[in-house]
Amino acid sequence: MRPFIFLIFIIFFISASFGDSGFDSMSTNFSVKLFYLTHTLQGSDLDVVISPYTVWSLLMSMAYESAGMTWEEVSKVFSLSENRSEIVEEFRKLRTSVLVNEGTLINSSNFLFYDEHLNVHSDSIRRLENDFRFTAQRLNFEAPQLAADSMLRTLHSHSANIRNLIRIGAEDFVNSTMIMCNCLSFTARWSKPFNVSDTSRDLYRDGNVKGGVNMMYMKAQLRSSNLESLHASVTELPYGDDGRYSMLLVRPDSGHDVGGVLERLREVSLWDILINLRVGAVLFGEREVEVKLPRFAINSRVTLNSPLFNMGLSNVFDRSLANFNKFAEDKMYIGDITQRVTVDITESGTTVHSTTPAYALQTTRTPAKRIPVKEPFIFLIMETYSATILFGGIYSKIDLY
Ligand SMILES: *[C@@H]1O[C@H](CO)[C@@H](O)[C@H](O)[C@H]1NC(C)=O
Ligand SMILES: *[C@@H]1O[C@H](CO)[C@@H](O)[C@H](O)[C@H]1NC(C)=O
Ligand SMILES: *[C@@H]1O[C@H](CO)[C@@H](O)[C@H](O)[C@H]1NC(C)=O
Ligand SMILES: *[C@@H]1O[C@H](CO)[C@@H](O)[C@H](O)[C@H]1NC(C)=O
Ligand SMILES: *[C@@H]1O[C@H](CO)[C@@H](O)[C@H](O)[C@H]1NC(C)=O
Repeated sequence: MRPFIFLIFIIFFISASFGDSGFDSMSTNFSVKLFYLTHTLQGSDLDVVISPYTVWSLLMSMAYESAGMTWEEVSKVFSLSENRSEIVEEFRKLRTSVLVNEGTLINSSNFLFYDEHLNVHSDSIRRLENDFRFTAQRLNFEAPQLAADSMLRTLHSHSANIRNLIRIGAEDFVNSTMIMCNCLSFTARWSKPFNVSDTSRDLYRDGNVKGGVNMMYMKAQLRSSNLESLHASVTELPYGDDGRYSMLLVRPDSGHDVGGVLERLREVSLWDILINLRVGAVLFGEREVEVKLPRFAINSRVTLNSPLFNMGLSNVFDRSLANFNKFAEDKMYIGDITQRVTVDITESGTTVHSTTPAYALQTTRTPAKRIPVKEPFIFLIMETYSATILFGGIYSKIDLY
């Protein structure tokens, strides 16, 4: 048995290094809620992956541009104080902690494309550039094709990796005055990679149609815990050397489903889960656990208007009520918030790209049938020092052809 005093020290260390400042916790709580509502409102036909941190960041950057009732609403949903510089400072601190390019490749870029006919206040673009790191470009939206070409050139010159994700049509410029865009890419190697020769094929069949999953397998010392409060087991698969980023695999206990576990996740703080995993590892050592994880790729596209509406943001979407008077003289409202995320998980690591907004892709082969997998799970790709959810997804269905 290790000395008791040691444990006390560790607990203190953890809470200090996590720094559960109200601000990080606000972002995390927003993320969990958004993830839950997106899953619930999407219906169960498609597996959804979102990047809650990106949505939160984009909305935060516009929060202080709103006024009147819209500000009342936004400040309530995001628990914002009146003091803008304080929030901007906290926002920057969090961003510095979340986007750390050491071993793991993580890139986030923000873009703002606005119509030259929009009467923006002289300092509003500068605020977004300085405080929220936007690359802003003024375009003539009345010449949609030229505007689209120009936007594509700008995006491609900044983020090589999103080339295949963005298809912008001239129609996106018709009837709109501004497009805000975020591209986040994440490429990381597992700290403990899977061995390719342990990967086996799980077959699925339903009548004439069939398909399969390549199931990766490993037995390793990992942080893992059964959480009664969640009705699930949580296993942490760290990336890189320092474990700053990791994937939390959340598997519902038998008799419980993904939706129920997500609902509980809203009440159990992610901090507590991370602390529980670390304290458990210190007390009992990292356990030798068996992990089965499919090698998979998901391409998800969601519209986030209704989950956000459900969280209390209604004014911002309302043509006549939205008030972004601090940003522009003209009336503006948010038309659509869409997001595309592609995830690719292999034996060696994970690659994720997300773009907000999401544009249509060329259609892919449609499956004959989509059926539930034997062991569905939730995966959260996190920056663990701040408990920030970079990506949250569900794996519950496979396609049969
Ligand atoms: C707002 O926050 C900044 C930074 O935290 C602080 O320096 C300033 O005094 C605050 N202003 C007010 C009016 O509270
Ligand atoms: C990611 O960001 C780094 C540092 O800002 C930059 O040097 C690199 O080119 C970016 N990579 C991609 C693929 O955009
Ligand atoms: C633009 O708005 C007009 C008038 O509301 C509508 O008829 C048209 O379909 C819209 N075009 C697009 C591409 O959304
Ligand atoms: C992977 O498994 C094979 C067969 O069990 C073994 O020979 C090989 O050494 C393993 N590779 C690693 C990197 O552990
Ligand atoms: C975030 O949610 C947790 C769990 O519901 C709660 O304990 C905590 O107070 C919340 N934090 C904030 C800043 O609202």
